[in-house]
Amino acid sequence: MSEVLLSAHHLTKRFGGLAAVNDVSLELLRNHIHAVIGPNGAGKSTLTNLLSGDLPLTSGRVTLGTQDITGWKPEKISAQGLGRSYQKTNIFLPFSVWENVRLAAQSRQPSATRWLQRASNLLAVNARAERALELSGLQHRKTSIAGTISHGEQRQLEIAMTLATEPQVLLLDEPLAGMGAVEAERMVRLLQDIKKDHGMLLVEHDMDAVFTLADRLTVMVNGQVIASGTPADIRADANVQAAYLGENH
Ligand SMILES: Nc1ncnc2c1ncn2[C@@H]1O[C@H](COP(=O)(O)OP(=O)(O)OP(=O)(O)O)[C@@H](O)[C@H]1O
Ligand SMILES: [Mg+2]
Repeated sequence: MSEVLLSAHHLTKRFGGLAAVNDVSLELLRNHIHAVIGPNGAGKSTLTNLLSGDLPLTSGRVTLGTQDITGWKPEKISAQGLGRSYQKTNIFLPFSVWENVRLAAQSRQPSATRWLQRASNLLAVNARAERALELSGLQHRKTSIAGTISHGEQRQLEIAMTLATEPQVLLLDEPLAGMGAVEAERMVRLLQDIKKDHGMLLVEHDMDAVFTLADRLTVMVNGQVIASGTPADIRADANVQAAYLGENH
């Protein structure tokens, strides 16, 4: 049995009368990609925000490794090994690729010591940023201004920024959004590489990518899980076909 890295226990998030996430449970294993799919407004991004601490839960519990992280602040959850990217790009466009990755690596330093800028800290930050850049395949863009690189490379940069925090678990919200076929293929290969050392929760609309990458899937509709299981389970699930996948998969 693989190690469970992240568990969501009966998560619910209400916005007024709307249950955007309604009693959702899932487990993410090491070296696994767990895809969360569902139509627009299903609650996928809200779920990632609950897991990362960006939104407070209405009810439920989240565990990271053996630690109960329910109610923790995002910075503390990040320091504990959960890294995330956002559906909307979160990079500093006027800064270079390297500066973006370095800032992300620096955010990993405990805030109490960040201002000290000790030499050893700086070396550790640079080393983390270098590794992240290397792994994400963006070394050749190191000095480019982030606003000038292609859309696909910007999404790669976000992955690099997430990796720079040295997470055990990555939450990726639509990393393939807006990509052409070539860029999407490159991103799929990158995610396959990253999976070797991490657990990954992947929210994605590109079903070809999802079924190439995912070890497990959770299907959400209107805040609720309507199915979860292996790709084969999900393909064969009549509810999923009716609600979401149509005849193509
Ligand atoms: N901060 C908020 N306040 C009120 N309602 C919200 C908020 N965030 C999300 N919602 C609502 O919660 C529901 C789920 O939204 P969410 O963004 O999680 O869906 P999603 O599955 O990520 O959709 P998409 O595939 O379009 O990204 C939607 O009805 C949305 O309008
Ligand atoms: Mg979303």
